[in-house]
Amino acid sequence: MNCRSPAAGLDATEVSRADGIYVQSVHSVHSDVQSTQRRGRPARMSDKAIYVHRAFTAIAERYDLLNTLLSFNQDRRWRRSTVSELGMKGPEAVLDVATGTGKLARELERAVGARSRVVGIDFCEPMLRKARMQIDSTTLVLATSESLPFPDNCFDGATIGFALRNVPDMEKTLREMSRVMKPGGSVVCLEFSRPRRPIMRSLHRLYLLRVLPIVGWLISGDKEAYLYLPRSIMEFPSAEELKAVMERAGLERVRFRFLTWGVVAIHIGTKRQKL
Ligand SMILES: C[S@@+](CC[C@H](N)C(=O)[O-])C[C@H]1O[C@@H](n2cnc3c(N)ncnc32)[C@H](O)[C@@H]1O
Repeated sequence: MNCRSPAAGLDATEVSRADGIYVQSVHSVHSDVQSTQRRGRPARMSDKAIYVHRAFTAIAERYDLLNTLLSFNQDRRWRRSTVSELGMKGPEAVLDVATGTGKLARELERAVGARSRVVGIDFCEPMLRKARMQIDSTTLVLATSESLPFPDNCFDGATIGFALRNVPDMEKTLREMSRVMKPGGSVVCLEFSRPRRPIMRSLHRLYLLRVLPIVGWLISGDKEAYLYLPRSIMEFPSAEELKAVMERAGLERVRFRFLTWGVVAIHIGTKRQKL
């Protein structure tokens, strides 16, 4: 298996579809959701995964617009900083986990050049369909972050943007990212955080709890998804706690830095070199 093949190391049972999205056929994410909906209880996806999957299915069409509006157009700068932390020069094989509409993957494509391979995975097909419309060369795979359909030691670097909050098991996702990384490769996580200075912290809280849910609801038409977003940010571990989770997941030399008064944090970790 080879990270540079179109399927980038997907196993033999994978299905490549005409619309350019590879499917992790080990267990179809959609059949999980559908069977769960039929029986009214989780099948193989956890309650959180089902909830998150529904939320992103509902807002996929308006996700990009809302991202730009609600971040005051800072989201692109945040993603570019994430990519520059990866320090890729190309040609490389880079993985973007929970790629969504592919915004981070597009920045990766720009940074690593045409001779590299960028692979984006996500478990929400409507988000991947939006990605397919906006990026050409990234390989898109419908898969869950807790079970990446790639061999060990396959990628030179990996990113995850605004998604660690959403996955059912953060440590498992990071462990998987570390597994598919070559020794010495970097894992970079971009995630919302909370400002430390009391004034900014209060303003941020006000914005999250009062402004964001209303704007999100009005534009996406989905009230629940934009009630979930502030809740998930408030409940997310602190930057120090996330650093500890990354270390438990097998990454070393983990460091982080804040952007925009601490509204977001970028964490960078390295897969241990073999002894
Ligand atoms: C807030 S979006 C972020 C998208 C993109 N990374 C960005 O920077 O805009 C979160 C994405 O995580 C995906 N996601 C959540 N849980 C997942 C999981 N367990 N496995 C794969 N994707 C997941 C969602 O489908 C959604 O597309």
